[in-house]
Amino acid sequence: MVLRASNLARRYRSGADELLIFEDVNLEVRQGEMVAIIGESGSGKSTLLHLLSGLDRASAGDVYFDSGSGARPVAGMDEEALADFRNRQIGFVWQQHYLLPEFTALENVMMPLLIAGCAPAQARGQARQGLEQVGLGERLTHRAGELSGGEQQRVAMARALANRPRFLMADEPTGNLDERTGAALFDLLRRLHQQQGLTSIVVTHNALQAERCDRVLRLVEGQLHELHQSETMNETATDGSGSIQVNPYV
Ligand SMILES: Nc1ncnc2c1ncn2[C@@H]1O[C@H](COP(=O)(O)OP(=O)(O)OP(=O)(O)O)[C@@H](O)[C@H]1O
Ligand SMILES: [Mg+2]
Repeated sequence: MVLRASNLARRYRSGADELLIFEDVNLEVRQGEMVAIIGESGSGKSTLLHLLSGLDRASAGDVYFDSGSGARPVAGMDEEALADFRNRQIGFVWQQHYLLPEFTALENVMMPLLIAGCAPAQARGQARQGLEQVGLGERLTHRAGELSGGEQQRVAMARALANRPRFLMADEPTGNLDERTGAALFDLLRRLHQQQGLTSIVVTHNALQAERCDRVLRLVEGQLHELHQSETMNETATDGSGSIQVNPYV
């Protein structure tokens, strides 16, 4: 098990009230798995992903990472250790690309390498390779702000993988892209996941993408349920555009 969540809970305080997002969430992810997390908007997917990637701390329970030398609880790491762990071991891709628009694609991908202490010449070489891997070898010196949305997400992917992390955490990575560009980006994500032996967690509203993951977990009313193959394509829902599509993953 490379990632384990045990009795995880997250509550937010708002004034005198307490808002419980989920509790008693248990999850085990094996090395090399690609796990989809689905659920309605507001069900707590992003909150859960933040906990599973050490960006936020649990109200109860804990997350354990095993990087080969025994399981390490997030609660036992101070902020500096956690930041270093995330920088080296976890790649993030969000719905927004969060690139620095005035910097080139190459500079954006070099950033996490430099933060990790890599020498500039080496960082440049590795960043170039990373951009070639995502099909952007011809866009190295374009400013991020000058790239298309799909290209920006590819740069974000190269940046996420720059330090050769063990984990890839993605939160609706194709949420801002049209269907075709989104499908191409998901193909790329899946390919890199396999090629680089990553362990990945992908939050998505896209049924087709969820289906292509090894496992699908659905967050509903504060509980995480594992979906089985037979439950996947038997419900209907609208996608908000007025067209009806087969989609159990709302
Ligand atoms: N910092 C916060 N303080 C208070 N409440 C919060 C905070 N962050 C999230 N919430 C609440 O937690 C709930 C879950 O939010 P979250 O962003 O995890 O949902 P989600 O499943 O990712 O939704 P979406 O599909 O729209 O991205 C929401 O009701 C939200 O308002
Ligand atoms: Mg979200």
